[in-house]
Amino acid sequence: EPEVIRDKAAMRAWSRRRRAEGKTVVLVPTMGFLHEGHLSLVSAAAAVAASAGVPVAVVVSIYVNPSQFAPTEDLATYPSDLAGDLRKLASTGAVHAVFNPPDLYVRGAPGRTSGDGTSGGSAVSCLDAAAGGDGHETWIRVERLEKGLCGSSRPVFFRGVATVVAKLFNVVEPDVAIFGKKDYQQWRLICRMVRDLDFAIEIIGSEIVREADGLAMSSRNVHLSPEQREKALAISRSLVNARTVALSNSNSASQHIKNQIVQTLTEAGGQVDYVEIVEQESLVPVETIDRPVVICVAAWFGKVRLIDNIEIHTQ
Ligand code: PAJ
Repeated sequence: EPEVIRDKAAMRAWSRRRRAEGKTVVLVPTMGFLHEGHLSLVSAAAAVAASAGVPVAVVVSIYVNPSQFAPTEDLATYPSDLAGDLRKLASTGAVHAVFNPPDLYVRGAPGRTSGDGTSGGSAVSCLDAAAGGDGHETWIRVERLEKGLCGSSRPVFFRGVATVVAKLFNVVEPDVAIFGKKDYQQWRLICRMVRDLDFAIEIIGSEIVREADGLAMSSRNVHLSPEQREKALAISRSLVNARTVALSNSNSASQHIKNQIVQTLTEAGGQVDYVEIVEQESLVPVETIDRPVVICVAAWFGKVRLIDNIEIHTQ
């Protein structure tokens, strides 16, 4: 049974204790309503131990971060099932703690309630008083990477993601953090943030887990009707087709391949948000597929916005 920790200070203390025992602390950040995709990240965390030959302490965070949802988005209907999540995590046997804070943002006076003797005299600690009062005003922006793809239709999304992930990093202080390639732009953006801000954390990108019929697993899939779910298979189908086309021709024109995907999605009744073919690390769009790229798709099926992608490694 993983230990459930709700308090930031307790989480940090837990992590520091494990580190002092010589363990590598691995963090898997999630918003809960866990599925096999999330659990594959836990397996990847356990694999860190196996490959490095060191004992690990695996922390899964479950926190639906309000700042990454725009007012028009589905924060209120985002699915949750903490009891189910805890059962699933316990059944992996590989999770040591679950960090499930009621809120990660400052409400009221932050920090210590009484002095510890270190801030006497004229020295003032920001943690001593209700410094700055309520709320939150510091944001991390990964300026270029936050803009394209999902950033176009979700302008505050990546600012919210980068900021909450930085907060989780500061609270949990992991050695390693694991992200799914399902959210490809998110993974690359976190890598960039870690590099730019000198977080001493290794970021691991983990492969997409799909249902047997190809649909990428997502917490939001529960909102699809059976008919919508069937239609949504056009996403993974069109991506696999596109990869086949790109691998069987050298220097395919991106536009041609994008058109085919848009057509397949539209014929299936989807509303395309974007289809882009971009370089894998920089996420810069390419005209022709002559280097390693990733095809990224976002499309609406009914009221559900789904994303998916496929990497193409041309030699
Ligand atoms: P969430 O959507 O819950 O996803 C948590 C992690 O699981 C992410 O790294 C995501 O890429 C990964 N994941 C989701 N579905 C997957 C799948 N089918 N295969 C592989 N990995 C998958 O992403 C978030 O939460 C949030 O933005 C978060 C990073 C926690 C910040 O709030």
